[in-house]
Amino acid sequence: MSSASVTELAQAYRGLFHFTPPQGWINDPNGLSWYRGQLHLFYQHHPNSPHWGPMHWGHAVSTDLLKWDHRPIALAPDRDYDIDGCFSGSAAVDGDQHVLLFTGHVHPDPTTSENRAETQCLAWGDGQSYQKDPANPVIDARHLPPDSSVGDFRDPKLWKEGDQWYCLAANADLQGDGRLLLFRATNPTQWTYVGVTAASHGRLGGMWECPDFFRVGDREVLLWSAIGVPAQPSAHQNSHSVLWSLGSLDRRTGAFAGEAPQEIDHGPDFYAPQVVKLPDGRLVMVAWMQMWGRTIPPAELGHGWAGQMTLPREIRFTEGRLTQHPVRELEAHRQTGRDFEDLVTGPRSWSGVQGRHLDLELTFEQWAGAFEVSLLRSVNGHEETLVRFDPATSTLILDRSRGGHPIVNHSKTHPEVHRFHAPVDVSEGQLTLRVIVDRSSIEVFAQGGLVAMAMTVYPREEGDGVAIRSEGSVRVRGAAWPLA
Ligand code: FRU
Repeated sequence: MSSASVTELAQAYRGLFHFTPPQGWINDPNGLSWYRGQLHLFYQHHPNSPHWGPMHWGHAVSTDLLKWDHRPIALAPDRDYDIDGCFSGSAAVDGDQHVLLFTGHVHPDPTTSENRAETQCLAWGDGQSYQKDPANPVIDARHLPPDSSVGDFRDPKLWKEGDQWYCLAANADLQGDGRLLLFRATNPTQWTYVGVTAASHGRLGGMWECPDFFRVGDREVLLWSAIGVPAQPSAHQNSHSVLWSLGSLDRRTGAFAGEAPQEIDHGPDFYAPQVVKLPDGRLVMVAWMQMWGRTIPPAELGHGWAGQMTLPREIRFTEGRLTQHPVRELEAHRQTGRDFEDLVTGPRSWSGVQGRHLDLELTFEQWAGAFEVSLLRSVNGHEETLVRFDPATSTLILDRSRGGHPIVNHSKTHPEVHRFHAPVDVSEGQLTLRVIVDRSSIEVFAQGGLVAMAMTVYPREEGDGVAIRSEGSVRVRGAAWPLA
């Protein structure tokens, strides 16, 4: 294969507005932070392979939250305490310095988990290059309560309040039950264990990962990723899912008192999100738009990369309800759009609305029977991805079973790979959808952002059609904009 064709292939499934790596594998966003006038995104990265391997921290910056400049790799596994990987973590700003707290992962024999050790490590930088602290590791087995696994202890969330530093890290107890632990420090090289912030107690999966924590008004939000939450018909269909809870953190005991945890995105491709507060006060969240244990077509097809991030999403709270919205910067990329209003009966196709990069705003009313929006629809009609609403169960269904390249799921407990469900409250008689299509992904925000679903899909056939169909009839109005 010539290098030109590899370059061309590598472009085939890149979105215009979704972060992808220059090459190689990515997973979790790391160190999402605003520093020196730019948004910094670090990410779990295996630079020379489209498969997971010894983790580095890739690095990119953006000023408009959508276009990224790639920076040199910020962290590579090169010390005895991180020799098998610089795992996930977070960033904070201290004076003029950018501080990273990451997990040093040591696992000499991956055939057993016995000899795995994870510790928390600091690095300091200026937005360009980062140096590991000579005091590393700064949190390790010595700081842990006696019933802790030292092999499952990772993904520190670092923040500072006045002179006080806090770190929330994921851990498992010796029975494998997931939990989050709080630590505090006045000097970020010298930490003290505070207590257990939250724990699964066997109800919300095994190991927990990637905690995040942020303030909204006078409330606080805990956000974390959980492995193996039991699947329900309309929740936790993935082997790994993301939970959030609104409450408050007791800094003295470490305990978080919060409402019942809820899944934050019901699509197949959403994990390990991080939230940053921008200088203008907006809370913005980015997640890995992929799932563990499934094949990733660009890797299989020799495109040299694997994995992408969700669009940065604005998080808002209204009356204690969390809503998600694509960052408003995306609206500047709307080209001349088309408004429409229609009564759809049966299989209706549209002319005038089509594209692989689209922003749709749709309001459905007066439905009789199920209806669906077909996206990324091929000319020959063989391929399409569906956003379907079933009034009988009040569920929104994102369906990629005929979307394109097959995706294989290796999870035995959570085998679903095509059809993902989210419960939607339509008691007001209306369904609103904001849908962003970006070549190999569809992100859906329903009911004003109360319900979110992210999905990757890799069409093979030619075509970029959009259609609406109804099993009975439905009124639809809205607008569609090509994005460029
Ligand atoms: C979550 C995760 C983290 C870990 C990282 C390794 O996706 O498993 O817990 O730090 O990925 O790449």
